[in-house]
Amino acid sequence: MTYDFTNCPDRRGTGSLKWERYSGRDVLPMWVADMDFVSAPEIVAALQQRAAHGVFGYTIPPRSTLETVLEYLQTRHGVAATAEEIVWFPGLVPALNVACRAFVQPGEEVLTCTPVYPPFLSAPENADVGLRKVDLVEKNGIWDVDFHALEDAVTPRTKLFIFCNPHNPVGRVFPEATVARLAEFCQKHNLVFISDEIHCDLVLDGAPHVSGLRFAGPKTVAMFAPSKTFNLAGLACAFLVIPDAATRRTFQRAARGLITEINAFGYAGCEAALRHGWPWRDQLLDVLRSNRDLVENFVTTVLPAIRTWRVEATYLAWLDARELHLPNPAKFFEDHGVGLSDGVPFSAPAGFLRLNFGCPRSQLDEALRRMAQALRSR
Ligand SMILES: Cc1ncc(COP(=O)(O)O)c(C=O)c1O
Repeated sequence: MTYDFTNCPDRRGTGSLKWERYSGRDVLPMWVADMDFVSAPEIVAALQQRAAHGVFGYTIPPRSTLETVLEYLQTRHGVAATAEEIVWFPGLVPALNVACRAFVQPGEEVLTCTPVYPPFLSAPENADVGLRKVDLVEKNGIWDVDFHALEDAVTPRTKLFIFCNPHNPVGRVFPEATVARLAEFCQKHNLVFISDEIHCDLVLDGAPHVSGLRFAGPKTVAMFAPSKTFNLAGLACAFLVIPDAATRRTFQRAARGLITEINAFGYAGCEAALRHGWPWRDQLLDVLRSNRDLVENFVTTVLPAIRTWRVEATYLAWLDARELHLPNPAKFFEDHGVGLSDGVPFSAPAGFLRLNFGCPRSQLDEALRRMAQALRSR
C-alpha cells in the first residue's frame, strides 16, 4: 500500500497548536514538532473502532497494548523489558518535570547538554532545583558530547542527567560508544540517567539508534512515545522504562495524584501504531529523507549565509543564521511568512533557528521560497 504524504487537510480551526499560533496571518508554521501528515489509516481505523464501542470509562493499560510495547522494545530496540518496568504517562514533558521533583532535592542540580529541547531546561526551574548546562561540541560538521566538560561540570550536588538521543534540535544519532560512556559517567557519579528517546524511530540514515537501556545502570529511566514517529502528539500517550524497582517507586511516588491516566484513545492509537504502523513509517522516512536533502541543498546553495547540519534523525533542521546579523531572525522570517522556532529557548546563542520539515513537499518548497525572498528583499 502507498500512503499519501503529498497533502494534508487544512488544520486551521482544529485546535492545532502549530497552526493556531498564526491564525489569521499568512505564515507557514514550521516550528513545533508535529507533522502536517494524516496518520496511518491503520491507526485511524483503530481509533474509529474504539469510538464505535461507545463506552469511555476509566481506562487502565489494555493487556494487548502492554504486550505490543514489550514486543516493540525487544524487536525494534533490542531491549528486554518486563511488564512491571513500564510506566505509562500522558507525555514526556510531564515525565521530565516529575523526574526533577522525584530525584532532585532543593539545593541539588540537574545536568544536561545544550542546545536542547526547551522543557529539559524548564523542568529543573519548575521544580526549583539547579541546572548545569554543558554545550555539545561541533567538529567537522558533527555534534558530539564533551565528556571533559561534563566531568568538570558534575558536582556532589548533581543528581540527575537528562539526555536526548536522537537529539532535538541538532539531529544527531549518538553512536553506541557515546551512549555507553554516558551510562558509565552516570554510574560513576551516581546520577539518575534520563534518556529521552522519543525520536528513536525517526532515524533517517547512518547507524541505528542505540537505547540507553542497553547499558542501563541501576538508575536509568528511558522515555518513549509513538507521538513523534506516528504524529500522535494530541493523543497524549507515552511510556517510560524504569528497570530498577526503587527508582521506579521514587518516580511514581512523585507523580501520585497529579498525573492523569492515559485515555482510551491514547492506548488504542499507541497499540495500532506500534503493531501496524511500520509500512507507513517506512514510507514517511523516504519522504523525510527527501525533505531533509532539499533543506540541506537549498540552504547550502540559495541561503549560503545560513549554516546547517546533516539531520541523521528527526524532521527538524538546526540552522545557524548568525552571519545574517539580524537582530531577531525568527521574527524576521515570521514577518516574511515563515514561522520557525527561535534557538534561544534551546539555550543556543542568539541567531539559531529550527525548521520543521515534517510536511508535504509543496509546503516546504513554499517556506524555503519565502525565506529566500525575505533575504533578497532586505
Ligand atoms: C526530545 C523531546 N522530548 C519530548 C517531547 C514531547 O513529548 P510529549 O509530547 O510526550 O510531552 C518532544 C517534542 O518535540 C521532544 O522533541
